[in-house]
Amino acid sequence: MKLQFLSNKKAKQSSNENRISEEEVTIRVSKEVQVQLDLIHFNKKDLVLVKGLQPLIEENIESIVDQFYKNLEFNSGLKAIINDHSSVERLKVTLKRHIQEMFNGVIDELFIKQRVTIAITHVRIGLQPKWYMCAFQDLLESIIDIIDEYYEDRDESLAAIKAVSKILNFEQQLVLE
Ligand code: HEM
Repeated sequence: MKLQFLSNKKAKQSSNENRISEEEVTIRVSKEVQVQLDLIHFNKKDLVLVKGLQPLIEENIESIVDQFYKNLEFNSGLKAIINDHSSVERLKVTLKRHIQEMFNGVIDELFIKQRVTIAITHVRIGLQPKWYMCAFQDLLESIIDIIDEYYEDRDESLAAIKAVSKILNFEQQLVLE
């Protein structure tokens, strides 16, 4: 799987071009959730890197969600779940919003509450956790492709990939609990 990028040119960049400070990101969570974040070594530095990716995510959001649903449609059972409860076109709209919010640089009670609500939605439609996890992996791979495409510096690219994998892992902790 490889995302189709908007342009062929390798617009390599450094995350320095979009420098975010720690004051611009927020982690405000309960003690228990803080332990979850500590165990995956997720801190404000990671959230800064995640927020720094926001413009790239926005630029490539169409390809990310296209890939996401193309992947799910390989499985006829998942395709049926989607069409029984909604449609790819409608879900693309909600997924776009959801992914963009993930890169806002804010992890607080509202962030957590929204994810718990989405988790309940997926339980209601009978989605098994294994399929949920497959979808997360596909999403992670798409974002890694974007980082690989645009980031020049190996260390910056690696740090950004680690930060994204942590925020996606945290979201999985919330929705699969
Ligand atoms: C709904 C995100 C995986 C099927 C939603 C919504 C979001 C979302 C944000 C809208 C919830 C709302 O309206 O309140 C995600 C994320 C996933 C994921 C982030 C994993 C990374 C899947 C998978 C399927 C799926 C694997 C496979 C069938 C659906 C369906 C709905 C839905 C059918 C609509 C439910 C309804 O409105 O009755 N999802 N989803 N999702 N998702 Fe997912």
